[in-house]
Amino acid sequence: PFKKLKDGLFSAPSSKESKDITGFNVNENESTVSITVVGASGDLAKKKIFPALFALYYEGCLPEHFTIYGYARSKMTDTELRDMVSKTLTCRIDKRENCGEKMEQFLQRCFYHSGQYDSQEDFAKLDKKLKEHEGGRVPHRLFYLSIPPNIFIDAVRCASSSASSGNGWTRVIVEKPFGRDSESSAALTKALKQYLEEDQIFRIDHYLGKELVENLSVLRFSNLIFEPLWSRQYIRNVQLIFSEDFGTEGRGGYFDNYGIIRDIMQNHLLQILALFAMETPVSLDAEDIRNEKVKVLRSMRPLQLENVVTGQYKSHVRGGITYPAYTDDKTVPKDSLTPTFAAAALFIDNARWDGVPFLMKAGKALHNKRAEIRVQFRHVPGNLYNRNIGTDLDRATNELVIRVQPDEAILLKINNKVPGLGMRLDRSNLNLHYAARYSKEIPDAYERLLLDAIEGERRLFIRSDELDAAWALFTPLLKEIEEKKIIPEYYPYGSRGPVGAHYLAARYKVRWG
Ligand code: NDP
Ligand code: BG6
Repeated sequence: PFKKLKDGLFSAPSSKESKDITGFNVNENESTVSITVVGASGDLAKKKIFPALFALYYEGCLPEHFTIYGYARSKMTDTELRDMVSKTLTCRIDKRENCGEKMEQFLQRCFYHSGQYDSQEDFAKLDKKLKEHEGGRVPHRLFYLSIPPNIFIDAVRCASSSASSGNGWTRVIVEKPFGRDSESSAALTKALKQYLEEDQIFRIDHYLGKELVENLSVLRFSNLIFEPLWSRQYIRNVQLIFSEDFGTEGRGGYFDNYGIIRDIMQNHLLQILALFAMETPVSLDAEDIRNEKVKVLRSMRPLQLENVVTGQYKSHVRGGITYPAYTDDKTVPKDSLTPTFAAAALFIDNARWDGVPFLMKAGKALHNKRAEIRVQFRHVPGNLYNRNIGTDLDRATNELVIRVQPDEAILLKINNKVPGLGMRLDRSNLNLHYAARYSKEIPDAYERLLLDAIEGERRLFIRSDELDAAWALFTPLLKEIEEKKIIPEYYPYGSRGPVGAHYLAARYKVRWG
């Protein structure tokens, strides 16, 4: 096996030709980026990757010379790939506008190569085609593994097999799931590292590319008013909430092997927690930030089963419509105990966060779709206005809500005098609604992440030690849930989820926001 900038498909040699296959004049000091979407016929490629690449092209963020290749087993011509891709492209600025010309230009840069994921020969043919497009330019190659995890290694091995040498970079974006526990994740990392260096592996967690998640550090570290309050001294609890108002429709087969704890908590919510709770990094460099995130993860108290509630949605009839149970999905075993909902109380045993509950809640088929961080502050000591607040003192504490989606916003709940001659307080919001404040559309998370991968910016990707720490936290709990065959609490499709989540929060004197 080779590593880094050595061989064939993973970094092709530059030649001194003066024209490439598309007729471009080539200056040998120029570089080019070839982006290969492995699994191009799939859902993620269609829904997210090609539209994000188009958005980057539209914004002028892609290098002047680039080529996009779709690779999958399905038989397709370049034209058929372009037809497929064009169906999901939307105009970057205004979804109703027709960006026809730009789309056409973009599609002309998209090509397709059909091959098996475990065939070195098929990848060698792709290599040949890429080289023709690269001409004599410095060849940079980005591979996006948008395929089921059981074929990651085959694809990486075969892509790296044809020998040659070159001077461009090679990077590989890997989609979650990164294993399903500590052992399988370590095995995946070990296998990837046979063919790649750690700095060539870009493990994607698309929540890190969401605008408000990226803004977390800005909020904390560039505003004097928040960071001094960011500790056990002033914060009573932190809630990390993910809910979807639809079930696992269409993905039941995948989901049943993972469940909501692996699908959302161990990665998306835990990543947000780490960014939220980390110490100030030395700089904004990727390694400095990731060092701080790892420290938080490694300071976390092992998760106890008693601090976790699991649930699974059951069928529900509303307005004459029957919403299916999780186990109604044909790809899910009828007796599946896989949780589609979970709530957990987590603790960080360090000086800043000692004793502060971090409550996570994630669920499918709930009553709404949202992702939020809610920070509840402590009571005002000796509050002069307690008697003007009413009986619900809990409701009168300050709360900072960071609404990641939908309708992105930052809201600060404060106590305020109700105008008038009396002295009654109520809680009002200081609002920052993104749609009202910023006219520009918020880029999709995949746009930012793809651009970062092209630019070699690793800040928003998961380093292997972060991944190890995340699995170390969740693996014993997951094993216990599976070994003890814990029965999830059943909740109706479209409801607020199991009542057990409220008891769990109440144990820590928390009311879910
Ligand atoms: P798909 O199931 O659609 O698979 C992608 C492509 O891989 C398919 O079009 C198919 O292409 C090939 N493929 C599928 N199953 C097999 C198999 N058993 N053996 C060999 N090839 C197979 O996946 P998605 O596009 O939904 O997701 C891709 C990756 O991204 C996965 O790892 C997934 O977990 C992850 N992911 C997906 C999300 C989503 O919203 N879809 C969200 C987050 C992560 P062909 O038959 O043409 O070769
Ligand atoms: C994926 C999960 O990682 O994130 C899905 O596998 C989930 O189950 C999705 O639906 C949610 O992403 P978003 O960006 O739509 O909130």
